[in-house]
Amino acid sequence: MLRWLAGTPRSPGWPATLGPVRVKSGVVTLRPVRLRDGRDWSRLRIQNQNELMPWEPTAQGPWAARHHPSAWNQMYAILKSEAKLGAVLPFVIEVDGQYAGQLTIGNVQRGAVRSAWIGYWVDSTVTGGGVASAAVALGVDHAFGPVGLHRLEATVQPENLASRAVLAKVGFRQEGLLKRYMDVNSRWRDHLLVAFTVEELPGSAVEGLIRAGRAFAV
Ligand code: ACO
Repeated sequence: MLRWLAGTPRSPGWPATLGPVRVKSGVVTLRPVRLRDGRDWSRLRIQNQNELMPWEPTAQGPWAARHHPSAWNQMYAILKSEAKLGAVLPFVIEVDGQYAGQLTIGNVQRGAVRSAWIGYWVDSTVTGGGVASAAVALGVDHAFGPVGLHRLEATVQPENLASRAVLAKVGFRQEGLLKRYMDVNSRWRDHLLVAFTVEELPGSAVEGLIRAGRAFAV
């Protein structure tokens, strides 16, 4: 250990378990990814291929092969080492204690920027019931609280109305349109850039959902 690093927390706010919050679909909590998530991750990613593929970065190889349980081991190792460095906070979204998706806070930048992006997906058997909104609100409160960030960003395709609704409910506002921003489903796709900073959040994002009657304290 380098002497100057001793006592310096490299990953404030990690590991953490967030919630619970009750929404229509059930009780939502966030917890760190685990090596033994491979089977659930693979099952849900394969079951949800049609819902996920239109919004996800293009990658090599067939979907089923890329989402075989064994593929999780390498992904988990990368997430774990990035999380240790404080660059990524990779959460599993649980609904009523069951693996139901993931939420990631990524590209965490410190120093004078103190910014990150947020991304997520939810199993279609529990969508439409407030799960993503609750998960994003929990992630936002954590990022602006214990993690110590000042700004959060998300990029979303204009056609992804459900995800835009989630981001708007939590308080993200539109900053611009990124032309041909990302290779998604084998084509360069425009993305909206949405963001907000801690000054724009009165109180907490979860409390905002509760005040709006969209979520309930447990
Ligand atoms: N048009 C307009 N609004 C819609 C539509 C639509 N076609 N479909 C859903 N909505 C609304 C819902 O009515 C709801 O709003 P409401 O609460 O005001 O009624 C909102 O979208 C969805 O809110 P939640 O229920 O909190 O979200 P859910 O748990 O259903 O998850 C999600 C939404 C994450 C987008 C899910 O559908 C999913 O995983 N999709 C595939 C992957 C994906 O798109 N991930 C996000 C990529 S962008 C990013 O990560 C920043």
